[in-house]
Amino acid sequence: MNGLNFFKFDILESTQDKAFELLEKFDEIIVISEKMTKGRGRYGNAWIADIGGLYMSIGFKNKDIEFSKKILIITPIAVLDVLNEYSILAKIKLPNDIYFEGKKLCGILVEVKDRDVVLGIGLNVNQLEFPKEINAISMVIIKNHVFNIDEIAIKIYKNLKTLIFADFKHILKIYNEKIEKEVVKFEYNDKVYVGKIIEVNENFELILDIGKFDIFCIRNLKYLI
Ligand code: BTN
Repeated sequence: MNGLNFFKFDILESTQDKAFELLEKFDEIIVISEKMTKGRGRYGNAWIADIGGLYMSIGFKNKDIEFSKKILIITPIAVLDVLNEYSILAKIKLPNDIYFEGKKLCGILVEVKDRDVVLGIGLNVNQLEFPKEINAISMVIIKNHVFNIDEIAIKIYKNLKTLIFADFKHILKIYNEKIEKEVVKFEYNDKVYVGKIIEVNENFELILDIGKFDIFCIRNLKYLI
């Protein structure tokens, strides 16, 4: 990619760590690894990263909180748009996973250290199988043909670079159109509720319909189903 600090590895512990390390020398970098031995997901979970998936971290130096908020919303849109190009119609499962027919296709992790932001994307591309305990699906399973992983990475990056300049309200509207409006059971202040997702507002609060036209606002949804 022209003028871009693009690093590709056969194997890394985690592309996230390598991206933070490289941000000491560069303002913006992309790190891709064919596999990872200590890939990480959200909430301290491990991310299994065998050959066949896209494991990409994009690092941005010295950014503010508004930038991180925007990144959280535009990344799933950028990935969905690329999937769309390959005729894969997936949905955002809150906050920013991508699911296809009830199975996870992509996970997104945003980490911030001081003012450096590293965005990690784990997209299931050419894996033919997953460990039994993981409810996952890949592009090859959906479409029955192998994909070019680097091409997908470049397309996602280009989309991100365009979306980053878009107006926040506009992208929030697109994000809300693309989230799965599912019924969720959740816990709030030690009580259990069931509600249908309506939308996410500008403060990242989730608006849920819990019946009788009641609107519920929460920041962190802890799914119970
Ligand atoms: C999640 O759904 O929990 C987020 C998963 C994020 C995985 C990606 S793969 C590239 C980057 N490097 C990592 O170690 N994790 C992220």
